[in-house]
Amino acid sequence: MNVNVNTTIDIDALWREYEDIKSRGYALDLTRGKPGKSQLDISMGMLDVVKSSADCISEVGDCRNYGVLDGIPEAKRLFSELLDIPAENILVAGNSSLNIMYDSIIRAMQFGVYGSVRPWGREKHVKFLCPVPGYDRHFAICESLGIEMIPVPMTDDGPDMDIVEELVGSDAEIKGIWCVPKYSNPSGITYSDEVVRRFAALEPKAPDFRIYWDNAYAVHDLYPDDKTELLNIFTEAKKLGRRNENMIMYYASTSKITFPGSGVAIMAASEDNLRRTKELMSVQTIGYDKINQIRHVKYFGNADGILRHMEEHAALLRPKFEIVCDTLERELGGLGIASWRRPKGGYFVSLDVLPGHAKKVYELCRYVGVKLTEAGATYPYHHDPEDKNLRIAPSFPENDDLQTAMDVLCLCVKLACLE
Ligand SMILES: Cc1ncc(COP(=O)(O)O)c(C=O)c1O
Repeated sequence: MNVNVNTTIDIDALWREYEDIKSRGYALDLTRGKPGKSQLDISMGMLDVVKSSADCISEVGDCRNYGVLDGIPEAKRLFSELLDIPAENILVAGNSSLNIMYDSIIRAMQFGVYGSVRPWGREKHVKFLCPVPGYDRHFAICESLGIEMIPVPMTDDGPDMDIVEELVGSDAEIKGIWCVPKYSNPSGITYSDEVVRRFAALEPKAPDFRIYWDNAYAVHDLYPDDKTELLNIFTEAKKLGRRNENMIMYYASTSKITFPGSGVAIMAASEDNLRRTKELMSVQTIGYDKINQIRHVKYFGNADGILRHMEEHAALLRPKFEIVCDTLERELGGLGIASWRRPKGGYFVSLDVLPGHAKKVYELCRYVGVKLTEAGATYPYHHDPEDKNLRIAPSFPENDDLQTAMDVLCLCVKLACLE
């Protein structure tokens, strides 16, 4: 970043503006990567599709009763069509993909993954690669279990694969990597075909290494006519054989399609991995919420139904992303104190300010009532070594509030970085 301090910027005037803002007593929030109310409203029809006992009957029986651990076949087919993964590789679970990711890691710690000789928890050290900036809740799982996290920088095409290959190929303590391959949280980057192929072809030193492929934003395009395609890692891995296929643990959910917290999550994996998971999962639960599964199936009908629904979300989200990116461009463009990408999908905009200034921006915003995700949160251990990254979540505030919050944020970036 080359600072280009425009000599016409009057810092004293900016401080006066800041004092004026302080007196307004704002309480604005850019932290929450969750759908706004109008987005939730478009899924309300889903609550009317299961009204009678007949509506609860799936091919494999009555959804109101126990059983069918891995989900009803109709739901497997819906996700299979949507994500282009064979239905037999899909397990339809409960209301949260984060929950099943957490369970997967706990199982690996306690019992080991398919084919491994030792649970990870019995190893002296377990390490994970964490592309940065990344999703704070992935990092929290590792931190809570004492898994050492090694940051890997993101490039415009995804994680730096030279580093990933080098580390994974040489260190048997590295057991996993977190990936958000499409419209990544928070940078909005989608992994290139080459990056996906290199992931599928990884040759880890640890035989029990796994790739945690969290495709949370698989169909969350902002511009339906300009979608970003993500290469299918399963197809690529299958071409290379069973060992490669066994490396991939794939997750997704309808949290940001229907209702977060009341959606349907899936896990997809090889036949070996799924068998192992089901064995262990059967101790934990008799089955997930199949009424919700059939509700989603009946409401959407097929993958096209979901894609049409996503266009409605996009229509509501686009203006918000445009408010964020247009304001950044107008206020900070050309100053050389901040950089960002205009995402084509997902839920976040990642803003890098001058190294050493993100915490200061965060504090300046907080002091005048604009809450940002804490500086550092997008890095393992909340430690952004360059103190430069901030995550903006545009979806939840109303458009007017979002505009005000962005104006304040840009002012605080200028105050922190130009003074
Ligand atoms: C990358 C990523 N994965 C998972 C989740 C949570 O998904 P779920 O609601 O299915 O647990 C989020 C939510 O923000 C996310 O950004």
